[in-house]
Order: sequence, then C-alpha cells, then structure tokens
Amino acid sequence: MNLCGTNFTLTLAFIMIIVRPLEGNEHVGKLSPKFERWMHSIRGEYIPLEFFNVMNSADLSKQDLQNLLRNFLENLQKNLTTSAILNVIDYNHQSNRNQIRKLWELSDFFYLSADVANAFAHDSQMYYEVTKNSSYKLLLHLRQIPSAQPTLVKMLLTNYFAEMEFFHIMFSEIIDEVLEYTQNTLLSIQNTFTYYADIQRFILENWNLKSNISCIKEYMEFLKPCSAKVFRCATDTKLDVVFDVFAMTELTSKYIMHQLEFRIQRLFNCFYFGNYEIRCKFLQNAEHDFEILFNSIEDLEIYYDIKTKNGRVSALRLRRHSNSNIEEDTTGLRVYNNCLPRDFPQSEMSNSLINCFNTIQKY
Ligand SMILES: *[C@@H]1O[C@H](CO)[C@@H](O)[C@H](O)[C@H]1NC(C)=O
Ligand SMILES: *[C@@H]1O[C@H](CO)[C@@H](O)[C@H](O)[C@H]1NC(C)=O
Ligand SMILES: *[C@@H]1O[C@H](CO)[C@@H](O)[C@H](O)[C@H]1NC(C)=O
Repeated sequence: MNLCGTNFTLTLAFIMIIVRPLEGNEHVGKLSPKFERWMHSIRGEYIPLEFFNVMNSADLSKQDLQNLLRNFLENLQKNLTTSAILNVIDYNHQSNRNQIRKLWELSDFFYLSADVANAFAHDSQMYYEVTKNSSYKLLLHLRQIPSAQPTLVKMLLTNYFAEMEFFHIMFSEIIDEVLEYTQNTLLSIQNTFTYYADIQRFILENWNLKSNISCIKEYMEFLKPCSAKVFRCATDTKLDVVFDVFAMTELTSKYIMHQLEFRIQRLFNCFYFGNYEIRCKFLQNAEHDFEILFNSIEDLEIYYDIKTKNGRVSALRLRRHSNSNIEEDTTGLRVYNNCLPRDFPQSEMSNSLINCFNTIQKY
C-alpha cells in the first residue's frame, strides 16, 4: 500500500510538471521558492516515518512477550518436575543444587516477564501516542493550502478542516481508551509478577530450605500450582484482549494514515490544477468524504467495546461527543490484590512444608 502511494505521488508530480506551465494557475505563481516547497511536499510522503518505526518496535515487544509467556505452563511442569529426583538412586548434593537452581530460575522467569511486559507497555504507549501525533501532523499538512482562495472555496475548506479536526478528536479519544486499558492491564501483570518473584526470592534467601530431598520436592510441588494460578490470574483473558486490540488498532491506524495521506495529495492536487468545480468536488460534502474514516474508527470502537465490556457501551457514543467520563476500568488494578492471598505464602503451606524451613520470616 505504501509503495502504491509512492508511485501515485511520483506520477502526480510528473504530470504536474508537464501540465503546470500550460495551466497558468495564479494560486501557484511562478516557479518560485513557494512552488519548490509545494513540489517538495507533493513528492514527500506525509505519514511520519516515526509512525512506522514505533509501530514496528511495539510489534516486536508484543511478540517478545507472547513468546515468553506462550509455553509457561508446560515449562513450569518440565522445570519443576520432581519425578526425576525420585529416580536418582545415589542422590547427592549436586542434584540437590540443580533443583535449587530451578527454584531460582522460576523467580527469574517472573522477573523477566515483568520486565518484558513493562517494555511492551512502554513501546505500545509510544505507538499509541505517536499515532495520535501522526494524525495531527497530517492534519497540519492539509492546512498548508495557500490562504488566497476565493471566498466560497475558503468556506468549503474551513468546513473540510473542521470535519478533519473532529475526526482527529474522535480518533484520539478511542486511542486514549485503548491506551488506558493496555497500560492498566500490563501494569497489573507487572506488579503481580514482581511481587510473586520477590516472595520467592525472599524465601530462598532467608528461610533456609533444608536441602533434603523430600523438602525440595515438597516445595516444588507447592510452587507448581501456585505459580500456575498466579500466572493465570494475572494474565487471564485481559492480556489477550490487549494483544487483539493492539493488532486491530495497528490495522485501523495504518488504514487511516493512508487515507489521510490520500486526502492531502488530492487536496494539493486540486489546488494546483484549479478548476475547483471538477477536481474539488469532495470539498462540497466533507461529511461524506470522511464517512469512510469515521466508519473505520467506529469499527475499532465496537471491537474494543466487545472485547473489553461485552459491547455494553455502544458505538453510538461516536459523534455524540459527550464529555461524560467513560467508566473507569479498575479491574486491571484489582487483579494485583486478588492473585495472592494477603498472608501468602504461609497460609497456603502445609505443616510438613513449613517444617522444611529453618527460619520462617514474615515477608
Ligand atoms: C525453565 O527452564 C528454562 C531453562 O533453564 C528457563 O529458561 C525458563 O525460564 C524456565 N521456565 C520457568 C517457567 O521456570
Ligand atoms: C506528541 O506531540 C506532543 C505535542 O506536540 C509532544 O509533546 C509529544 O512529545 C509527542 N509524543 C510523541 C510520543 O512523539
Ligand atoms: C527432610 O526433612 C523433613 C523435615 O525436617 C523430615 O521430616 C524428613 O524426614 C527429611 N527427609 C529426609 C529424606 O531426610
């Protein structure tokens, strides 16, 4: 799509170089610095390069997180398997140490996952912010149309710009919603994982697990279901929603940027050639011209509502532009408290496991 856009721009610029001297269009003037600047902007690609860069970074961070979390439950079973211990006949200090190492690795995994979730939170935030900024920059491009136009055209342009600005506001509002949901969810995952890893570290460093085979086995058996529960509780379905909504926003925003770019080219084109009645028809019905764009953000809004609120908030909110606060989604933050009982881990440990530690300290 990008490539096609480029070809179109170049072709357009080429045609205009040939045609322009015959036109004698007074709005463009002679071959002046102003003309040069116009030619430059016609040829340029309007979508900021940054938009594609941050989108790629965010996409890579998303993949990192997905890859890291994908096989967690299987790895948990594999890493903390205790059947191997029982098969070791001349069980020794070395295999004990290996098992202890697995325990450290489990806490490392939760720390790493928290970090990677944090990286995705950062990169996706950048992406969402830059998306809003890029839409705004495209809008400013459109405003570069020379102001010396006939009154009627000026009025039409004013109307057209107003529609664009309205579109930009709506688009930004949806992006803000998605951004807030994403950040809340990722923050709660980060908090839960870090807190859980901290507890594991604290136990390994301070509780003095007896290095006897049945104690290590029992502690591993304890950690397996706990870790699986914490993992499920923290990620739940909300993380999938974050990924899905991110992918949908990527698609929509790319489409929107190209559509805005197309509108800039068309508008510039129309003012180069003059002859407004024919070439600038779209100016006469700005609302119609932006309908396709409003439809695509409405689709995004509906998708987001269905994913996050079971469609409770209808997309009719669009274009109504009320200032009423959108319901705060606080469930993201609640997860943090719900995933682990207050007096974890003692509350969950059997007496025999408690006896496996030499010095139990409150975390
Ligand atoms: C399992 O072990 C591998 C290799 O030691 C480690 O990279 C991974 O983080 C561990 N995963 C879990 C969930 O403990
Ligand atoms: C977006 O634009 C605002 C205002 O121009 C600026 O302050 C902010 O740093 C920009 N954000 C990004 C991520 O580029
Ligand atoms: C390991 O320690 C526990 C608790 O002190 C004890 O009950 C158990 O008999 C020990 N097992 C072995 C194999 O030493």
